[in-house]
Amino acid sequence: MPVVLQISDLHLGRLPEHDAARADVLREAIADVRPDLVVVTGDVCENPIESPDQVDEARPWLDALGADYVVTPGNHDMGNKLSAGKHSVTRGMFDRWTRNFNRGWERRDIEGWTVLTVNTQITGSGWPEEEEQHSWLEEQLATAERAAVFMHMPLDLGPFGEGMAKADYWPVDPEPRGRLLPLLSQPKVRVLATGHLHQYGWFPEVMPPRVWCPSCTLQVKITGLSGPDADPEALGVIRHDLVGENATHRYLPLNIPGVERVET
Ligand SMILES: [Fe+2]
Ligand SMILES: [Fe+2]
Repeated sequence: MPVVLQISDLHLGRLPEHDAARADVLREAIADVRPDLVVVTGDVCENPIESPDQVDEARPWLDALGADYVVTPGNHDMGNKLSAGKHSVTRGMFDRWTRNFNRGWERRDIEGWTVLTVNTQITGSGWPEEEEQHSWLEEQLATAERAAVFMHMPLDLGPFGEGMAKADYWPVDPEPRGRLLPLLSQPKVRVLATGHLHQYGWFPEVMPPRVWCPSCTLQVKITGLSGPDADPEALGVIRHDLVGENATHRYLPLNIPGVERVET
């Protein structure tokens, strides 16, 4: 049974005095779970716009976790989607990330399961890479038997969003969502797991079923995004068990040093 451990929204460099101890906690979690693969769903760094070295420093930090991993960037790593109009994705940020890691999309096959990462930060950019990624995703899904897909921004806010402030800020924009959703709604996509919201959420009744992975370092209370389906107090990682035909998961709370709570 393939086991994938999802880690999200580390925001390294935000409280640098805690980064080493946080790595120790994650190494312990990895030793407990012994995943086949760790998937890091973005916001690895806090502010590479002002401190570009953070991306370079993130590479050895992640390597030192001692697990086989893939990582896809978040807005804090590569910049916001272009429509955000502030701190948006740039060629420079894209290139720096690519030099250290990858372009943000990758495939791994484990015992009949295909694990895919998708770079949400370039969605809606109109860059040639956006088109390239989309064609690549179509090809991967065509050849996958069953897939688990990981990315930073959610496609939508599930039962939330109506009248919520900044509802258009958090998810993928409507136009790229309109292209991605039919592709990812194929029954072979058993789970779509995302980060960015810093909440734990589980939405099994939609296609594809969604899991929101909390941050393991920073609690964010988003106005309008609360209730039984979204837990802003959550702090930890997600264990995904890819069992036979089905993806199940468990939220694993972690005791993280230097917890910070933010309201937005
Ligand atoms: Fe984040
Ligand atoms: Fe984010």
